[in-house]
Parts: sequence; structure tokens; C-alpha cells
Amino acid sequence: MSEQLIEVVDNRGVLRLTINRPQALNALNSAVIETLEQILVELEGRDDLRAVLITGAGEKSFVAGADISEMQDKTPAEAREFAGKALRTIKRLETLPVPVVALVNGFCLGGGCELALACDWAVASDNAIFGQPEVLLGVIPGFGGTQRLPRRVGPAMALDLCTTGRKLEAQEALRIGLVNQVMSQSELQDYADTLSKQLSGNGPQAVRSAKQAIHDGMDQDLDSALALETGLFALCFAGGEQREGMTAFVEKRKPDF
Ligand code: CAA
Repeated sequence: MSEQLIEVVDNRGVLRLTINRPQALNALNSAVIETLEQILVELEGRDDLRAVLITGAGEKSFVAGADISEMQDKTPAEAREFAGKALRTIKRLETLPVPVVALVNGFCLGGGCELALACDWAVASDNAIFGQPEVLLGVIPGFGGTQRLPRRVGPAMALDLCTTGRKLEAQEALRIGLVNQVMSQSELQDYADTLSKQLSGNGPQAVRSAKQAIHDGMDQDLDSALALETGLFALCFAGGEQREGMTAFVEKRKPDF
């Protein structure tokens, strides 16, 4: 099931996950969510993991939301269970110790936007369309959108998007900080390759520490967060990575991490 619903390509510890339900624009049904969770549980135990890139199959859609057909007849208790499973899975993605990047290659709506928001950053193809259109269906975002969206784009913009349900084009998503860059579909493929090379060439423990400092520090007051940074910075000098990186610089060669 894993191979069918989510394709996994492992390039020396950079994992590329492709949600593969193009007939439903890669909508998140229970089977996709469970498959993603199984994959993430395996990744959590991997010391050689460098980064995770997540995208959707085809050139039309990243993820067009939670599966509406599956949700249509749910009771409140079933809806709570469905959202709970998705929230737990999305949290696993968010808290992987390595950079997690969304390659948004088309529709990024509802649960798809919520998945992208749990990634460390997102880049988009120029045909990407974003939105939290749940109110058009008589519901609100249930996979974290009302909480992660205001934290990324501010409460006024999040309220605009979650109450009107309006769709945004990629350039507006860029302007409001929902994505870091916009590019063509072919450039998106090149970006994934370049990013894989960059991230797998850097000190792996330093990359993990940078993510930890930013994630953990965001929940703390500035002085505590700066102390956290100092602790993690000092820890970098305890392993061989710092010695190799700085020796390589002095010897004018590439570091071998
Ligand atoms: N769930 C289930 N199936 C979906 C889907 C979804 N979220 N989005 C698209 N599909 C299916 C369509 O039903 C259609 O299937 P059939 O061919 O069997 O009819 C197929 O994907 C192709 O879709 P369209 O024919 O609609 O394609 P389009 O190009 O005309 O429109 C679209 C594309 C604008 C994205 C449109 O499909 C759409 O509006 N989809 C729903 C978007 C949405 O509302 N997402 C939020 C879902 S609710 C949610 O996510 C709640 C949450 O927070 C937990």
C-alpha cells in the first residue's frame, strides 16, 4: 500500500515523498494518512536522515484537501477521530529532526495547505493555487490550519483566508509569506535536486541543531531562546563535524561530513 499511495525515493538520506492519488488530486483520505504515518514512524528512527521533501503526483495538484467523499457522512465523533489521526501524522512530519520542505506543484487547498504549513518551508510552481476553502463546505480547517496559518502569515490574513475561503495564486502566497519561492514546474524539479545536494553536503548534526534551535526557540522568550542557541552552538564543538568543517576551510578543500 505504501508504494502505491505514497512513492518514496531515498537519495542518500534525502527522502522524497510523493502523494500518489492523482485521480482525486492527491486528496488525503484515511489510507493516505495512515500510509504517511507508517513512513514517518520509520523515518523517526533513522540517524542517516538528512531531509524530507514532500510533493504531489502529477503537475496539477499538490494536495486538494482532505477527502470530501470520505468525510461526507461522518458523525461528530468520527470527524474528531479523522482529524485526530491527521493531526498526529502532520505533527510527526513537523517534528522530524531534519528540514522538511513542501514542493507545491499545483492545488494546495484545505488539508493540503495544512500539510504544507507543517513543513519547515514551502516552494511553489507558478500554477499553484492555495486556500482554506472549508467554509464553502460548511466546516472549518481541521488539520491545523486555524493555528499554523496565523502563525505563518499573521492573524488578519489567516482570518481573511479561513472565513472567505478565497483562493490565492502563487504570487500572492509568496507575498504573504506562505511560500519562500515561486518557480516553473521544471525549475521545481531542479530546485529539489539542488536542495538535496545542498542539504546532504552540510554538516548533518549542525543542520539538525539549526532546526532544533529555531523550532524550540520560537516557543520561548528571547533570552531563554538565545541561551538555547548558545548551548546548541557549544555542542557543535563536541563532535567531529566542526573540526572537519573548519579544518577543510583552512586547508582549502571541501569538508567530508
Ligand atoms: N476530496 C475528494 N475528491 C476530490 C477532492 C477532495 N478534496 N478534490 C478533488 N477531488 C476529486 C474530484 O471529485 C474529481 O473526482 P472525479 O473525477 O471522480 O469526479 C477529481 O478529484 C478531479 O477534480 P475536479 O474534476 O473537481 O477538478 P477541477 O480541475 O475541475 O477542480 C478543484 C479542481 C478546484 C481543486 C476542485 O476539485 C475542488 O474544489 N476540490 C475541493 C477542494 C476543497 O474544498 N478542499 C478542502 C477539502 S475539506 C478539508 O480539507 C478539511 C480539512 O481541513 C480537514
